[in-house]
Amino acid sequence: MNKNFILSTGSYLPEKILTNKDVELMVETSDEWIRQRTGITQRHIADEREWTSDLAVSAAKNAMEKVKISTNEIDLIIVATTTPDKTFPSCATIVQNKLGCKNAFAFDIQAACSGFVYAVTVADSLMKSNNNIKCALVIGAEIMSRIVDWEDRSTCILFGDGAGAMIIKSETGIANGIISADLHSDGNTDILSTSGGVSSTCDSGKIFMNGREVFKHAVDKLIALISETLKSNDLEINDIDWLIPHQANIRIIEAVTKKLDFPVEKVINTVDKHANTSAASIPLAFDYAVQKSKIKPGNTVLLISIGAGLTWGSVLLSY
Ligand SMILES: CC(C)(COP(=O)(O)OP(=O)(O)OC[C@H]1O[C@@H](n2cnc3c(N)ncnc32)[C@H](O)[C@@H]1OP(=O)(O)O)[C@@H](O)C(=O)NCCC(=O)NCCS
Repeated sequence: MNKNFILSTGSYLPEKILTNKDVELMVETSDEWIRQRTGITQRHIADEREWTSDLAVSAAKNAMEKVKISTNEIDLIIVATTTPDKTFPSCATIVQNKLGCKNAFAFDIQAACSGFVYAVTVADSLMKSNNNIKCALVIGAEIMSRIVDWEDRSTCILFGDGAGAMIIKSETGIANGIISADLHSDGNTDILSTSGGVSSTCDSGKIFMNGREVFKHAVDKLIALISETLKSNDLEINDIDWLIPHQANIRIIEAVTKKLDFPVEKVINTVDKHANTSAASIPLAFDYAVQKSKIKPGNTVLLISIGAGLTWGSVLLSY
């Protein structure tokens, strides 16, 4: 039977770094407040000439170069993003064009911060149902700085820009790969949204969030999600080698792992340097962990996310 496994990962972070000290000059806040409440120390900000597809292409090239895979070998491209270049065509088809992936079909997925977990799940399902799809390029890419209200101190401190990519290959006789996926949404659209959109205000709008409410939902839902994933796979929490949560706030991650008695040393944390890059946060953290030789072949890795919608989900895999 074919197994869909992670062949390679890649990432791209824009050159410009905005530190908490820089943000202090923009809104009434302090480096200390931001660190204590979120764990964030800095975020990367895209250059005004960069589009989300540019970030996505750089991350994809990084992943492809590591395994010397050619553009012709890519059968499927999925880009998870809430900040696409244009309303249409999809960011994924723009990425396809820029990379020259002539044999692929491409589309976007919009599940806010859960986008990457949704995208991996869809790629895995498509590959299982169609033997012609042997190689998928799955990307999370965001320029959150374009939809942040830079006058709202309760949200502007939280977000950053970046892209992460994963190449998923389907082969027989492989022991490792994607084990299970679990997706959810509840239609709670009031506590985290943008103030506008194409059909409502003819623009993208700016981020609005009830931080306290989102925090509570995130902690409760992620705890339940992990328990559910473990139960359905007949695993114990100790069977997980690495947890890669969506990087939104270190306090959310700490509350979840404390409740489940999961060791903090086994949690990948990039929120300090990347801030919340929405759909890009998990693939960026994954690539960071591989580069730092934290995640090793054979490790059991659990990805968990929560985002606007509310959407949440997990992907369990053996690397
Ligand atoms: C946004 C968040 C960091 C705020 O932290 P909090 O501890 O909940 O803080 P509160 O919103 O209760 O605000 C506490 C006080 O700090 C103030 N405050 C808000 N932002 C501030 C900032 N950047 N700097 C200084 N003070 C700030 C508030 O005005 C409030 O003041 P008040 O008590 O005088 O009214 C936190 O709620 C959070 O991370 N929520 C989840 C966000 C998230 O992860 N979203 C994405 C999910 S995908």
